[in-house]
Amino acid sequence: MNEIARQLNETILKYNPNVYQMLSELGRNLYYPKGILSQSAEASKLATRFNATIGIATDKKHPMHFKHIQKNLNDYSPEDIYPYAPPSGKQKLRNEWKKKLLRENPSLQSKTMGDPIVTNALTHGLSTTADMFVDQNDSIIVPDKYWGNYQTIFHIRRGGVLKTFPLFNEDDEFHISAFRQCVMGQKDSGKAVVVLNFPNNPTGYTPYGREVEGIISALLEGANAGINIVLILDDAYFGLFYENSIQESLFGKIAGLHPRILTIKIDGATKENYVWGLRVGFITFAAENKTILEALEQKTKGLIRGTISSSSHLSQTIILHSLQSSEFEKEKLEKYNVMKKRAKRVKEIVRRERYKRSWNFYPFNSGYFMCLKLLKVNAEELRIHLLNEYGVGTVSINSTDLRIAFSSVEEEYLEELFEFIHQGIQDLLKEGV
Ligand SMILES: Cc1ncc(COP(=O)(O)O)c(C=O)c1O
Repeated sequence: MNEIARQLNETILKYNPNVYQMLSELGRNLYYPKGILSQSAEASKLATRFNATIGIATDKKHPMHFKHIQKNLNDYSPEDIYPYAPPSGKQKLRNEWKKKLLRENPSLQSKTMGDPIVTNALTHGLSTTADMFVDQNDSIIVPDKYWGNYQTIFHIRRGGVLKTFPLFNEDDEFHISAFRQCVMGQKDSGKAVVVLNFPNNPTGYTPYGREVEGIISALLEGANAGINIVLILDDAYFGLFYENSIQESLFGKIAGLHPRILTIKIDGATKENYVWGLRVGFITFAAENKTILEALEQKTKGLIRGTISSSSHLSQTIILHSLQSSEFEKEKLEKYNVMKKRAKRVKEIVRRERYKRSWNFYPFNSGYFMCLKLLKVNAEELRIHLLNEYGVGTVSINSTDLRIAFSSVEEEYLEELFEFIHQGIQDLLKEGV
């Protein structure tokens, strides 16, 4: 094993041996080499005469660039576009995102967390975390309604085994006892990777205060029983809370609660700030002290260096300027209100008497989606029928569940959308007769 990796492991072992146990084999081998980038970082501070370290080109002390590109980007200086960003991200952006996390999650104020590490949006944050903590046959605990890409990220790529628990109980609340049972099922192996995503994709659910207490007590029970828990919080749709569910991330509530729970927040600008294609996300660790956080950051940075090397500098610059803009809060609220009105309208429509024999729906109070539970027809058959006959696109999750992204249908058309779905169901029922 490389000497730097060995030292990082020793640091982690010294401050929290449980976290060392949680690391995958790859995670243990990771380190950030003292290679070109760290020599170049040193040079950028001290090489006042010539900096001949890194493989970019300069011209009159500025990054060399094409005028025909720059003329479209004149709000940003070439220094903030063309050179490589550091593997862990532009420090100013990391600081700004951290401030945002603290502002929006009051429970975080008293916790010890690292600076958010920039990723190429959430998928990359999730797969980086999976690389660091998931080995072949590790159990990945997720609710039965989860974002389909977890299969590729945790199972196909890393060989983890997804173990699901029902998200809702018979009262349509978060199924705490099933969650607890699933966590406790890991007692023999002593390790669980738990992935929770609120607002949830595909249902649009975020739990309420009492349910969160249940989630926390189940995790604590697991940790007290000797299970090392890697808790990955996928906060892709953070902030889009429309009712009186919790209004902050579980990250602040759980960070630092128990030495056997490593809490990791995966979030980003993608969905929160409506910049899907810019690909800016973050991994934020919480741990007992700065030293262990630094060791985890070095390992993450090493992994990023060995995969994508660094995220787009231009995208980071755009997000940084946006977060610092005086327009940011105002526009964010405007968009939130649009989404909230759509969610409210959907709720009015889907519960109409007229649709009672066509569907039930899973509880929703947040995010981009809601999910119909079809009572009489197959979701995939309906999806195809809606596409072919009505030009309406939806997503079938399994044989009964149809996901509707109300985020992408304007309020005035929502009524028509659900009427088409209802009509499609009637067509299939007639065909079946
Ligand atoms: C729950 C969830 N997590 C993560 C992602 C990935 O987000 P990104 O586009 O930032 O990679 C998505 C995207 O659909 C999602 O629904």
